[in-house]
Amino acid sequence: MSLARINALIAAGEKVVMLTCYDATFAKLSESAGVDMLLVGDSLGMVLQGAENTLNVSMQDMEYHTKSVAAGALDCCIMTDMPAGSYEHSQENALLNAKRLVAAGANIVKIEGGGEMVNTAQYLIENGVPVCAHLGFTPQSVKKLGGYRIQGKTEETAHQILQDAIAMDKVGVRFVLLEMVPALLAKTITESINTPTIGIGAGADCDGQVLVIQDLLGIYTGPATKKPVDFKSPRFAKNFLATSSSIPHSIQAYVKAVKNKTFPGAEHSY
Ligand code: KIV
Repeated sequence: MSLARINALIAAGEKVVMLTCYDATFAKLSESAGVDMLLVGDSLGMVLQGAENTLNVSMQDMEYHTKSVAAGALDCCIMTDMPAGSYEHSQENALLNAKRLVAAGANIVKIEGGGEMVNTAQYLIENGVPVCAHLGFTPQSVKKLGGYRIQGKTEETAHQILQDAIAMDKVGVRFVLLEMVPALLAKTITESINTPTIGIGAGADCDGQVLVIQDLLGIYTGPATKKPVDFKSPRFAKNFLATSSSIPHSIQAYVKAVKNKTFPGAEHSY
């Protein structure tokens, strides 16, 4: 599934289904279940390594998991997160690291943030690396943002996110991923830019949706250091396994729900 084929799906009015993936087994399963794009997310720091956040994920981690996913995905488009520290400090360093992820099997890399990151995105694109811009709640800035909080609730912050999306659109990013923003803001952004949007906790009007596989299966219970009883799933998460007979069926149910626009519902949105 090339990036051009994903764009063709969107042009035909079909929602794009993305799911996080960290290994070959789930890559094969997800592809067979009809997932369009696999995200090798740095969420692996939390869901695989048990950390409190994504901040300590390394380039080696992302290369290793991208290779594993690429081994299992014969046809799916693979997006890989550039981990914290791998792209913010210099454009040249960002390009070297992005090329390592492409060599590992990524079709496109994802970077977090607007502002200065617009120039970094442009530099990567001009040097042949497709980019997705991650805006709204950006997990690598969790400390600066004061925790896992919805972004763009005030007029001023909503305006800033919209401006960042417009700037990223202008430099030619292939997707804008919107995390934890009000559904109305995500709708406005989706209608204001040509670049397709992919949402997580961003309402039903984005061009596509992404979920973390552990949330889809209802098996994530927080960092390794905390008791499961102290963990509360985010509003946007939905356990598809609860109403399915197997893991493959639960992924198929997610694909179907996104394609027929029954997920996310208002109860998963802000
Ligand atoms: O790392 C990740 O899994 C992500 C999703 C939350 C979109 O960036």
